[in-house]
Amino acid sequence: MSDGAGDEAARRRTFAVISHPDAGKSTLTEALALHARVLTSAGAVHGKGDRRGVTSDWLEMEQARGISITSAALQFAYGDTVINLLDTPGHADFSEDTYRVLAAVDSAVMLLDAAKGLEPQTLKLFDVCRHRGIPVMTFINKWDRPGLDPLQLCEELSERIDLPAMPLTWPVGFAGNFHGVQDLRTGEMVRYERTAGGATAAPEEHLSPEQAREQHADDWEQACEESELMLAERGEFSYQRFLDGTATPVLFGAAMLNFGVRHLLDALVEMAPPPTPRLDVDERARELDAPFSAFVFKVQTGMDRAHRDQVAFARVCSGKFERGMNVTNARTGRPFATKYVQQVFGQQRSTVDEAYPGDVIGLVNATALRVGDTLYEGKPAVRFPGLPSFAPAHFAVARPKDLGRAKQFRKGVDQLESEGVVQILRSDRRGDATPVFAAVGPMQFEVAAHRLDDEFGVSVELDHLPYRTVRRLTDSTHRRVIESSRRAEVLTRTDGTDLALFNDDVALGALQRQHPELAVEHLIASGDG
Ligand code: G4P
Repeated sequence: MSDGAGDEAARRRTFAVISHPDAGKSTLTEALALHARVLTSAGAVHGKGDRRGVTSDWLEMEQARGISITSAALQFAYGDTVINLLDTPGHADFSEDTYRVLAAVDSAVMLLDAAKGLEPQTLKLFDVCRHRGIPVMTFINKWDRPGLDPLQLCEELSERIDLPAMPLTWPVGFAGNFHGVQDLRTGEMVRYERTAGGATAAPEEHLSPEQAREQHADDWEQACEESELMLAERGEFSYQRFLDGTATPVLFGAAMLNFGVRHLLDALVEMAPPPTPRLDVDERARELDAPFSAFVFKVQTGMDRAHRDQVAFARVCSGKFERGMNVTNARTGRPFATKYVQQVFGQQRSTVDEAYPGDVIGLVNATALRVGDTLYEGKPAVRFPGLPSFAPAHFAVARPKDLGRAKQFRKGVDQLESEGVVQILRSDRRGDATPVFAAVGPMQFEVAAHRLDDEFGVSVELDHLPYRTVRRLTDSTHRRVIESSRRAEVLTRTDGTDLALFNDDVALGALQRQHPELAVEHLIASGDG
């Protein structure tokens, strides 16, 4: 038994914000932290305007290198709850790292821009949440600006992703003329007051329905009518449906003005699931009170150029972590010393002395650790399933510019593969010397090329392949059929998965018409999925 780990786990909420670039993720992160007491920040929260309180200097390091690749966690206390907000990198650096973060959370907040609704990157991330059974709460942001109709936004959730909205609040005043929200559980109106530059938590005024009617006549009436319509159509809020991932609680707000952020935090505390026992490779649950265990969901190399250090981020799954503890790496059976564990980097560098299930720890000098590794203390040994590989969308043949560096190239490629920087695909036809790099986001190629050059002294040439449609080939005897097409190819990933790549859906469709027996299937994730 491990001291109080179960109780500590129960007061933790570990989640990520999923959104399309520009929906306001950084702004929301800052707004959440503003409402809370920031305990630690391990990473890349980008400061906005005057609110640079939780900014780290990773950003500068990344800018100096011309690439942005971080993903870490911000930890803060909200009342008695400890909140771990894991960062999902957005923008051009959208990559497998973004997806892997979702293997380390217990819930997600889907952040939508009120004027845009569901956008492509949000949809991709949502697919992963659905696939992994992660409950999703929705925050509709930027309500202070002209936007879509709230009923229309809720409708979009049902129609496009089959995720009915269960609003917890309803906006009073249309998008662009936002006064506050109707709290659908208390029936009262919560009115917000603007503060200079959104620099402090927005003061709230609570109005009874009568007061709201008096002071916001038409806007209040409209909010009541619309929310009643929603309720009549959808029925009462169901906690279970949120947990099952078959419906999403919805809140409205404006992160920039801190409007609605308190409601979101309260909803997370009240409804988002705390850490639960994780299943090991034999599908046995590792109880929260069992001795310390954790799995690595991200490895970051070269954060500090002077020291060429490598930091592995691990999510604690059970027990109490104490700095200095000797743990075992389940993959190698070797001990790993945690003397230098840190949770905070950049300006706020400090060491972590203890951590509990749901928390994220950064293991410094972790060159022996790989994405997906399990660490545990004592006996018996435990090993969690490896992290899934995600459906790649970009492909490029890689070769060293200088053939004399073929050996270093091979070594570098193995290293990148083991860290999960890019996926490596091969085929007999292409030969071993020219692997194909596959990635979820094109930025992964840049990172790979940069690292091969920087760490292995190999300058690489990347020839981008024209494939846009990817399937898993489930019957390898069909390989020949696919390869008979000039617009398709089969490549095998290091984990043994055969990927059938097609120029586009048309090329796949044409082949399927000729060969209806063709055994291919969609893939979001493989491995433990
Ligand atoms: P991201 O991390 O999801 O990419 O989004 P980010 O927070 O950087 O926000 C994108 C833009 O949207 C920023 O404007 C930000 O100020 C704005 N924004 C975020 N939340 C709200 C909101 O509630 N209301 C309004 N009106 N705008 C919001 P920007 O012009 O790109 O940057 P900045 O100059 O404001 O920093």
